[in-house]
Amino acid sequence: MPLNYLGTLLVDGTDKTPGWFYIKNYGTPLLAAVLAKMYLNGSSNTWQRDLHGKVYIVTGGTSGIGAPLVRELALRGAQLVLLTSQLKSDNSGAVWVTDYVDDLRNSTDNPLIYVEECNLSSLYSVRKFATKWLDNRTARRLDGVICLASERMPIGKSRQVSVDGVEMQMAINYLGQYHLLTLLEPCLKAQPPDRDVRVILATCMSQSIGTLDLDDLLWEVKRYPSGRPWKMYGSSKLMLHMFAKEYQKRLENAGRKDKQPCNIRVNVVNPGITRTPSTRRAISMGSVLGLLVYLLLYPFFWIVLKPCEYGMQSFLYALCCPDLIDISGGQYIRECSVVKTKLRKELQDDELQKNLYDLTARKISELEKKSAIERNRGKPDGNKKKDKRQKKDEMQKKDKKGLTEEDKRGIFMSAFDTEDELQNYKARNANTDDAHSTQLRRLDEKYEATHKKS
Ligand SMILES: NC(=O)c1ccc[n+]([C@@H]2O[C@H](COP(=O)([O-])OP(=O)(O)OC[C@H]3O[C@@H](n4cnc5c(N)ncnc54)[C@H](OP(=O)(O)O)[C@@H]3O)[C@@H](O)[C@H]2O)c1
Repeated sequence: MPLNYLGTLLVDGTDKTPGWFYIKNYGTPLLAAVLAKMYLNGSSNTWQRDLHGKVYIVTGGTSGIGAPLVRELALRGAQLVLLTSQLKSDNSGAVWVTDYVDDLRNSTDNPLIYVEECNLSSLYSVRKFATKWLDNRTARRLDGVICLASERMPIGKSRQVSVDGVEMQMAINYLGQYHLLTLLEPCLKAQPPDRDVRVILATCMSQSIGTLDLDDLLWEVKRYPSGRPWKMYGSSKLMLHMFAKEYQKRLENAGRKDKQPCNIRVNVVNPGITRTPSTRRAISMGSVLGLLVYLLLYPFFWIVLKPCEYGMQSFLYALCCPDLIDISGGQYIRECSVVKTKLRKELQDDELQKNLYDLTARKISELEKKSAIERNRGKPDGNKKKDKRQKKDEMQKKDKKGLTEEDKRGIFMSAFDTEDELQNYKARNANTDDAHSTQLRRLDEKYEATHKKS
């Protein structure tokens, strides 16, 4: 058919060629759009890897780039544990997640897809999942952790905070993933030396506008940039990238018990700008009007933004490319290749990465303690602790003479020269009037003497 058409065009000329008018007027922009689309879709992964029997934990596998990625991994036979924040304690959201997993199992013919609750915006939820995972006498098989979950706030929205009181983007994109990976470290390290274990983290080009301030790491003092939320998002991604580099170094330096070389590779992937729910929300500024504008301009966005199937290609590459196990981790991957450009000076600064890692660990520990106290406050145990505290406070309250209950108790105890004497007193029966009054007299004397001194 195209050959016939081409033949008519060459032999009979443009006048006799059907539809030439349209080709003449719209052909060039259409061709330009097709070429632009092909270019902007980016590169595709060409590596194949059989994933049967391999186990991966995936965050962010329920939407956006993560959805086609987990489908692809499931088709290749991998066992997947999807972490989601949708499974709330009141069971809302469970139906949706169950349907999603059922659909995935049926369409990929892979029953080994599971879902677990792990809300990355809560350090407690992350710890609960990781503890459950590690709570096996023999280490579970784990071939990798793929971290795609993220939060991207639209412009103009006010500061959102996590249950731990941390700004939401920072909590999910950095702290949550840091916490998850550091808690899973024993399991990653326990994998046999011949296993190709890969940790993949997602970053974004906005990391180039992020800032790192060790004095105000989690933006507790600095004002939230609601007019430029990508600064916060970029900072969380920059910190995540730095964490990946430091984490890889620590895994290598810690070595393995069996003295074999480190078999874990931690790499960072930038998928490129992709048409996902979070991109749509960012473009539409989270408003209905914005959404209408987005829909009107959809043909433009359709051309310039990658579909998720293309956005996932660099993640697939990071998982399948055999060369990546032969080089050290901490690589930056974009368009299905390792990029060597110097993105940010922080990514070359080993000392800064170490400081960031240590400081974050301290921050997480502080936040976890604080949140645990908050959580326990409403519980019966918490009340017990509160009662104890109240009792202690009361004991330390001073009376008119400036003596606390504790002082008085001390004075009472000092009426007995030895512990035996106190025990004898109790044994002799405090009801004996004589003994009682003697002790009381001695107590009064001591009490008066102390009062005079003070
Ligand atoms: N889209 C782009 O243009 C682009 C560009 C560069 C980099 N990236 C990066 O690529 C990754 C995927 O992006 P995307 O646009 O596909 O994301 P997305 O569509 O917004 O999906 C976000 C995912 O994160 C999960 N998530 C959100 N909050 C969570 C929480 N508190 N706990 C656990 N999971 C949570 C969601 O799962 P549940 O709702 O089930 O919890 C969801 O699956 C992100 O890391 C992003 O930064 C994206």
